[in-house]
Amino acid sequence: MTENNLRRICDAAKEASKVAYAQYSGLKVGAAVETEKGIFTGSNVENASYGLTICAERVAIASAVAGGARKVKKVAVYSRQKLLAPCGACLQVIREFASPDADIIICTDKKMKKMKLGRLLPLPFRL
Ligand code: THU
Repeated sequence: MTENNLRRICDAAKEASKVAYAQYSGLKVGAAVETEKGIFTGSNVENASYGLTICAERVAIASAVAGGARKVKKVAVYSRQKLLAPCGACLQVIREFASPDADIIICTDKKMKKMKLGRLLPLPFRL
């Protein structure tokens, strides 16, 4: 994967972060997923009932699935503030549509880190 390729998916995640609804935490997060049907994005959607908040990654996955995609190859997560690893719930949801060798790319404007999904979630729940 080229550095340019990585930058492109991070840019899509950054663009998505601009519409984050994060008025309670102030942490705007954007996510982009690369699938067999192209790139889909999402941002976090917070709620006055805090526990109902949805993370950017899960919004992006839901958007991809709603768009007919079923295979997630890469996920990028962007925040202006700091490098954010996807939370455990998001990793489980990503794993539903991605293999352990899918790339998880976390980025800010200055830093970028790439990891394999299987390293972040070595033992997913399986029915
Ligand atoms: N958040 C995400 O969007 N993705 C994550 O993987 C972790 C956390 C959001 C949820 C909430 O709106 C804010 O970050 C603070 O927890």
